[in-house]
Amino acid sequence: MAPLVDTFGRLHDNLRISVTDRCNIRCFYCMPEDAKNFQPKPEILTFEEVERFVRVAVGLGVNKIRITGGEPLLRKDLPVLIAKINAIEGVRDIAMTTNGVLLSQHAQALYDAGLRRLNVHLDTLDRERFRQITRRDDFDRVIEGIELCRSLGFGPIKINAVAVKDLVEQDIVPLARFGRERGIEIRYIEFMPLDSQGLWDKSKVLLMDDMLAMLREQIGPLEAVPDQDPRAPATEFRFADGIGGVGFIASVSKPFCLNCNRIRLTADGHLRYCLFALEEMNVKTLIRNGASDEEIAELIRANVRAKWLGHEINTQKFVPPPRPMYAIGG
Ligand code: 5AD
Ligand code: SF4
Repeated sequence: MAPLVDTFGRLHDNLRISVTDRCNIRCFYCMPEDAKNFQPKPEILTFEEVERFVRVAVGLGVNKIRITGGEPLLRKDLPVLIAKINAIEGVRDIAMTTNGVLLSQHAQALYDAGLRRLNVHLDTLDRERFRQITRRDDFDRVIEGIELCRSLGFGPIKINAVAVKDLVEQDIVPLARFGRERGIEIRYIEFMPLDSQGLWDKSKVLLMDDMLAMLREQIGPLEAVPDQDPRAPATEFRFADGIGGVGFIASVSKPFCLNCNRIRLTADGHLRYCLFALEEMNVKTLIRNGASDEEIAELIRANVRAKWLGHEINTQKFVPPPRPMYAIGG
C-alpha cells in the first residue's frame, strides 16, 4: 500500500498510542489537581481494537510505536498489549513513556513482553520539588523504578524533564549529572501550552539556550551531535569529555514540525495528526461498526492528508488544543 505521505511531503511512519487518559500523579502543567471526566471504560479501545489498528497502520508503513498515557502502567495487563504489538511483523521498534511510579512493579513483565526502550518522566531530583510539581510524594518509587530497569537491561532509558521557568533552574545540572553517571540521556522539554488550565505563556518557558548555557558553565563543553536523525524531535548534544549527553525538545524556541513523522491514536480511539491538532477523526466508531481494513486505512490516510504544516505556538493565531496532554498522550 502507498506510504503515508502528507501534502507537505512528510513520510509518516511513527505512531503514538495512548492507552489510558488516567494518571496516578498530577503534574500541574498537564492535569488539574481535581482532574475528572476521564473516559469511561467502554469508550476506551480494547487491546484487540488497538492491535487491529496497529496492523492496518503497519500495512501503511508505520514501523515505530510508542505507548503513552496518561500513565500507561495504569492500564491493566499492559505487557500483554506490548507483546501483541511486538509480534506484529513490520513493527521495528516499540517504546513507552511512563512517569515511573509503577515501574518497579511491572518492569520484569514489560521486559519479558519485549519492551526495551523507556522514557521516564522526571523533572527534578529534589523530593520536595517533585511533590510540588506532581502533587504526590512518589519520588523514591520513580528512582527505584529507573534503577531496577537499568539492572534488568532496559535500554536506552531516557528521562523526560519538563522545563518550566522560575521552577526547575536548580534541577537542570543535577539531572544531567545523574544521567551522565548512569548512561541515561536527559531530555529537557520546553514547557508547552497543553496544561488544560491556561497556565502557559511564553515567559514561563525555560528555553533550550538558557539550559545549554547552565550545563556548559557548570559541567563542561557540549557539542552538537552530528548526523542526528533529522526526523527525531530532539536536538542532541554530547559532553566533550565523552561522558554522556543531553537532548532538548525545543518545541517553543526551535519548532521541529517540518520533519514531523507522527500520528497519534488517543485512548478513546481518535486519530490526531498533531499534538496541537484542533480536529480529530473517530476511528473507534469505524472499527466498532465493522469497518474493513481498507476503510480504516482510508481514515488514516485522510488524517495524514489533512495534516497542517505545524503548530503556531509562536504566533497570535495559536489556539490551544481542546484536549489536555493527558488525554492526548504526549
Ligand atoms: N509541556 C511539555 N511537556 C509536557 N509533558 C506533559 N505536559 C507537558 C507540557 N505542558 C511531557 C511529560 C511526559 C510527556 C508525554 O510529555 O514529560 O513525559
Ligand atoms: Fe501524569 Fe504524565 Fe500528565 Fe504528569 S505529565 S500528570 S505523569 S500524564
